[in-house]
Amino acid sequence: MGISINPQVLSVKESATLAINQRAKQMRREGKEIYHFGFGQSPFPVPQLIQGALRDNVDKKDYLPTQGLPALCEAIARFYHQEFGYHFEADQVCVGPGSKELIFEIIYLLEGPLLIPAPSWVSYGPQATIRGKEIIPIMTQRENGYRLQPEELDRACHQAAERQRVLIFTNPNNPTGSCHSEAEIKELAQICRAYKVIVISDEIYSLIRFNGKPYASLVHHYPEGTIVTGGLSKAFSAGGYRLGMMLIPKTLNLALLALKSLISETFSAVSAPIQYAALAAYGNYDQVSEEVQRCAMIHKVASEYLWERFIKMGLNCPKPEGAFYLFPDFANYHDKLRAQGVLTGLSIAETLLQKAQVAVLPASDFYFPATNLGVRVASVDYDGAMVQEKFPGENQMSLEWMEQLFPNLVKGCNRIEEFLKSL
Ligand SMILES: Cc1ncc(COP(=O)(O)O)c(C=O)c1O
Repeated sequence: MGISINPQVLSVKESATLAINQRAKQMRREGKEIYHFGFGQSPFPVPQLIQGALRDNVDKKDYLPTQGLPALCEAIARFYHQEFGYHFEADQVCVGPGSKELIFEIIYLLEGPLLIPAPSWVSYGPQATIRGKEIIPIMTQRENGYRLQPEELDRACHQAAERQRVLIFTNPNNPTGSCHSEAEIKELAQICRAYKVIVISDEIYSLIRFNGKPYASLVHHYPEGTIVTGGLSKAFSAGGYRLGMMLIPKTLNLALLALKSLISETFSAVSAPIQYAALAAYGNYDQVSEEVQRCAMIHKVASEYLWERFIKMGLNCPKPEGAFYLFPDFANYHDKLRAQGVLTGLSIAETLLQKAQVAVLPASDFYFPATNLGVRVASVDYDGAMVQEKFPGENQMSLEWMEQLFPNLVKGCNRIEEFLKSL
């Protein structure tokens, strides 16, 4: 039967990360050994405290308020105050089925173009496209660790002319693992204030940092225009629980009212047992914080191992400081790759999958030009429960430990190295 589909939706392909995950799994099912550096999901078990709370609340069946379980909204506001020094009250918190959905809804309801620093997470652009929104990518530079610089933001705001500007800002960043410094954030805040930019500060990785520095957020320097998003998925290893949140400043109250209306006409409220499970995490953070920090330390060891190997191979790659990603590029192999007919990020990703059995995503999925020879690597292809149990601590790590705890990371790097030597 011939049917007509909304062209804006038709123009969106399946999310690149989900697609590569399916493909790598399929190749594994076919018996191929695949080093899966393509999909970024926390490998650790959900903390027992959260699992227990979920079990204890399976009987919770009533629809909860649109904004979220009041006790959870309070716990979230308190958590962000204690951990990050933010000043949001419970009635400024909205809970949703993953921060992805809430980001979609806020993009949907805000007028004006979406400014997306490149590289950035794959889903912001398609979400804006579905809404028919103009996207203004802001190219960042490798020598700045791909961190957005004030002059780059200034130029983009200028280009967006006199309209309301919305900036999506991810810190720590996916795909680069970079974290912004306090000084950079301060300068960015000045630009945001000058142009009255509405910032969606995607802080889903804010508990996974390993640069030893305090967290720098636009909320500290531009509170009146900064909306924060976060959730259970990354630091609490519970992506499949689908629980995210959004904190909206009082100055943007109209956006909060619009969001509440939108929620009430779409998903209504997040599943009740899951909200009670999240209440255990945010209400008793002191009981899980040690586990969260230990996982962050494991992410550090895994990410820094990959980084050192990539640098030794002659790839360009900013040192990761948070999250669980790296963004190396093969520019130094440009001529040798060209001789093999490999001219784009996509063809590098395909070649790595075919010749080295390593799955990665091309930089072009992150708003970079097709000819950029970069790829995104996720550093989580290991058995998180086993590593959590055996991890001897950062200072005890050796090659033997790496091989025991992170065999796929070691073998995947060996395969990439062999491939590069064969060129
Ligand atoms: C940068 C970034 N933001 C948001 C999300 C969405 O997380 P969730 O919807 O699970 O809260 C992800 C997930 O991969 C992400 O990497």
